[in-house]
Amino acid sequence: MSDETQLEARLEEQDRFDPPESFVEQANVSDEAIYEEFENNWPEAWERAAELLNWETDWDQVLNDDDEPFYEWFVDGELNATENCVDRHLDERGDEAAIEWVGELGETRTYTYEELHREINEFAAALREQGVEEDDVVTLYMPMVPELPIAMLACARIGAPHSVVFAGFSADALAERMNAAESETLVTCDGYYRRGDALDHLSKAREGLADVDGDVTTIVVDRLGDDAPTDVDDEHVYGDLVADHEGATVEPVTRDAEDMLFLMYTSGTTGKPKGVKHTTGGYLSYAAWTSHAVLDIKPEDTYWCSADIGWITGHSYIVYGPLALGTTTVMYEGTPDYPEKDRLWEIVEEYEVTQLYTAPTAIRAFMKWGPEYPEAHDLSSLRLLGTVGEPINPRAWKWYYKHIGDEECPVVDTWWQTETGGMMITTLPALGTMKPGSAGPPLPGVSADVVDASGDPVEAGRAGYLVVNKPWPGMLRTLYNNDERFIEEYWQEYSIPERDQWVYCPEDGAKIDDDGYITVLGRVDDVLNVSGHRLGTMEIESAIVGVEGVAEAAVVGGDHEMKGEAVYAYVITEDGQAETESFREEIIAAVEDAIGPIARPEAVVFTPELPKTRSGKIMRRLLEDIANGDEIGNTSTLRNPEVVDDIQQKIE
Ligand code: WTA
Repeated sequence: MSDETQLEARLEEQDRFDPPESFVEQANVSDEAIYEEFENNWPEAWERAAELLNWETDWDQVLNDDDEPFYEWFVDGELNATENCVDRHLDERGDEAAIEWVGELGETRTYTYEELHREINEFAAALREQGVEEDDVVTLYMPMVPELPIAMLACARIGAPHSVVFAGFSADALAERMNAAESETLVTCDGYYRRGDALDHLSKAREGLADVDGDVTTIVVDRLGDDAPTDVDDEHVYGDLVADHEGATVEPVTRDAEDMLFLMYTSGTTGKPKGVKHTTGGYLSYAAWTSHAVLDIKPEDTYWCSADIGWITGHSYIVYGPLALGTTTVMYEGTPDYPEKDRLWEIVEEYEVTQLYTAPTAIRAFMKWGPEYPEAHDLSSLRLLGTVGEPINPRAWKWYYKHIGDEECPVVDTWWQTETGGMMITTLPALGTMKPGSAGPPLPGVSADVVDASGDPVEAGRAGYLVVNKPWPGMLRTLYNNDERFIEEYWQEYSIPERDQWVYCPEDGAKIDDDGYITVLGRVDDVLNVSGHRLGTMEIESAIVGVEGVAEAAVVGGDHEMKGEAVYAYVITEDGQAETESFREEIIAAVEDAIGPIARPEAVVFTPELPKTRSGKIMRRLLEDIANGDEIGNTSTLRNPEVVDDIQQKIE
């Protein structure tokens, strides 16, 4: 056996890994007692998180649980998020890089804390001049350009909550989110580069704006220069506004701990996205604490999270967490395989990146491309690796550990959600034994369990529903303008209000082992996880039934080697509608228009009927079995069992 095969064989068998000694010696958190401290001194132990920040006024109470589940954290405390992420670092780190930005064409920009501070002030002054006031929601529909975090922090400086809409979302999705938030200010961008081509973004924004109620002020960042048409309708140009306010200073607005820092729309079980509300004190403390304890971030690090800021991962772990700790955060505009499949490793080597936080989908792609790409680069600067967004299969975990981390870096598999604000379940990198495929125990102070349908804990090894039993500072406070839906979506299933027992339900399936390690299996509601992106089946279905000629549609997730899950659409056409290839394309285009290319169906299957129970409910589980080519489960409860054969034949 060659050395290499021996190594592979050993890794194949090994199912536990201990943190490397060299890491433990320098870790931010390396004392096992932290678990006990949080247990014995809960909720006061959470002051540890808040103490990572600068407060203008200290809190009177750590947790107010008088009106459950509307919890409040660090009650009566006052602070400003931008002051914490930028101003307070100026004395010590003014000349150090805050953001290292790498464009897809290879151009780079460095913003020191001093420079970041200057531009945030100038843009904050411009926003004010445009009439943006405290508590006005500002929508940011932008790709990965430095002006995005600058705009976020300018909003936070003046106390205007931002609502970032992922640039890959469609015009319709933008309009829906702006209307739901009653947002009358939009900051967008003329375009961006993908695989070397300039993509037009502004037309999409304008198309969306046509459906937005109210009188919207639009500001456009010029990313493409001569590669984009320069005609600007009645929009403002970001660069001109900033230039007009050169040298301006805007005092950070004092915000209450519970004041909204931002809104983030995410997919749920209904067709309407949910506006998750995060606060200034609890969220920022939580983002900073988890960045410190789990990602082990220190000011002198160069840390890189390869997510898009349009998702929660980018909010918490590209912008707020890392900048609150005064470190250098890397931002990459493009794709990992352009111009070559070693782009990420080139950046790690060039910037001497110390921590890398990415998604299992990306790791599966790296595996497929082969180890020669990382091997061509010096990755020895790396100290810690992280993953997020979807379950990671042990093979991908081990590949990451070996080929990227050289068996020298702990891997943190972090389970969390848009709603949780930050990481909830993961090993602490210097403390826990790592078990590939299992995220680990809940963080100190976080209380999670796996229960059955009646809310009782399940035995070790059995699948059940993940629940969170205690509040935590980073939790969403409500759904924007919809307290009722907040309770229905997250608290109704397992709580017993009469006994003051409130249990948060994340809608994930999971199992727990004898050591208390939790393996998250995936969503148990009608939400899909495609390449780590959350998509609601109802949103996709409503786009499909909107196409003329479609009578009914059911969307389910099927297993996908690279994406984890892929979208399968089963469609019944109206009488007289031909089931042609062009009709199929029309359906796919409708999904892209309503949501964006990330929701593009892998397959559109025309069928005369959908499998339904006698009471008329679509049996989604059967459709999933069909999509996966699995053995079909029990069909005896079906009103129309014969349809299963028909559909199976079509998909083959
Ligand atoms: C899934 C992303 C397994 C889960 C931060 C959750 C995971 C949904 C993991 C939230 C993980 C996230 N292991 N599954 N480490 N991390 N998930 O809101 O199903 O975009 O409910 O937040 O992603 O997705 P969201």
